[in-house]
Parts: sequence; C-alpha cells; structure tokens
Amino acid sequence: MEKQFWLDRWEERQIGFHLPEVNAHLRKHWSALKLNAGDRVLVPLCGKSLDMLWLREAGHGVLGVELSGIAVEEFFADNALDMQAEAEDVFSSPQAPEIKLHQSDFFELQPEKLGKIQAVYDRAALVALPQDMRKPYVQHLSELLPAGAAVLLVTMDYPQSEMDGPPFSVDEQEVRQLYHEGFHIQLLDSLDVLAGNTRLAERGLTRMMEQIWKLERK
Ligand SMILES: C[S@@+](CC[C@H](N)C(=O)[O-])C[C@H]1O[C@@H](n2cnc3c(N)ncnc32)[C@H](O)[C@@H]1O
Repeated sequence: MEKQFWLDRWEERQIGFHLPEVNAHLRKHWSALKLNAGDRVLVPLCGKSLDMLWLREAGHGVLGVELSGIAVEEFFADNALDMQAEAEDVFSSPQAPEIKLHQSDFFELQPEKLGKIQAVYDRAALVALPQDMRKPYVQHLSELLPAGAAVLLVTMDYPQSEMDGPPFSVDEQEVRQLYHEGFHIQLLDSLDVLAGNTRLAERGLTRMMEQIWKLERK
C-alpha cells in the first residue's frame, strides 16, 4: 500500500477505521500484558485513535507513529490537548504521562528515536498492510523492541476473495508464521463478529473472525 493511498484517505475523509470510542479488546485484554504503570507503549500506524488516551489514562507514556499530518493535528485538537513541536516531525502534549506522535513512515523509524519501549498496541496496523508489507513490518517491529516487550495484537480473518482490504485478512497460520521467530505467541481470544453485524453480511461476507493475541519479544 503506497503512502499516498493513506494520505489521500485522510485528505478525503475516508477514515471509517477511526472509532468514536475506545476499543473493547483493549479494555478487556490489556491487563494480560502485565505491564507496570509508567511502561512506555508504541502504537504503530496510530491514526488519531482514542485508544492512545485510554493507554495514557492507564499510566503509560504513549508513542504513536503516523504518516498523516492531518491525523496528528486532529488527534491533539479533537482531544483538546496542547500540541508542542519537539522536532520537525515529533509532536507531544505537555500533560503527563507523555503522548508523543511521530509524523513519519513507520518503516523508517530508528530505534534511538523512540527510547525504551516496553509494549506495543497494534489495532488496524498489521491488518492495514498488504501481504508483501507484513513481513517487513514484523521485522522492523522486532528491531525496535527489547527482549520481554509485550504486544497486544488484534487481527481479522475472513475470506479475502469476498472483500478487498484494507483491512486485510490475516489468519491464524499467517500470524504464527510472521511472529514465531521473534516472539512467544499466545491467542487470548477469538470472536465471531459476523453474527449480529448486518453491515458485513450485506457486503457479502460469509465469515469474519477477530483474534486477539499476546506476543512477547524473545
Ligand atoms: C487502518 S488505519 C488505523 C489507525 C489506528 N490504528 C486506529 O485504530 O484507528 C492505518 C493508519 O496507518 C497510517 N499509516 C499507513 N502506513 C503507514 C506507515 N508506513 N507509517 C506510518 N503510518 C502509516 C495511515 O495513515 C492510517 O492512519
């Protein structure tokens, strides 16, 4: 997926992925990561997700990475947070714990720019990427994380022939293939999200599962 695709989606307000509330899987499963308050959380491909506010309320420093300047500006403006420019492409809020957003390409982010990260929250990041970008994504994430770092990952699994991504289907086998070398993998939950979702059924989908994973960097 080209960078321009995402920049255009923000320009054209095609941001159906942005949720008006905190993600239910985050609320339910975050404690499984067994983090300490104060641990710093990386949110790759963060958009202007409200989940970052929830993570801060849980006591974590938050580092989001996002291509679009529109998303970054709107995150601070929508949530009435002061936005300070720390560098050309790094913006933060002065209120503690810190929320810092890097307006940059995740794939170009260098570990020294981030400082020490103890956890990652991935909702709609891995599944936003087409198949040929997923291995490089996991590779780069692995390089950014120290041993012991924990990841909460949300994936979806549906017949890809029935709908174009993004979000793309990433099934259980692919998750295991992508992460087994660098991470311990635990499936926390698997839910049928088609039942009760008439919108997806109307789009012709015959199956849609969501999986919640806990990963730990080896
Ligand atoms: C599907 S959205 C998900 C946003 C957010 N995680 C959420 O749950 O609302 C994917 C986001 O990743 C951003 N993005 C795509 N490719 C990126 C890249 N290479 N580096 C940084 N951000 C990227 C897009 O601009 C978009 O905001």
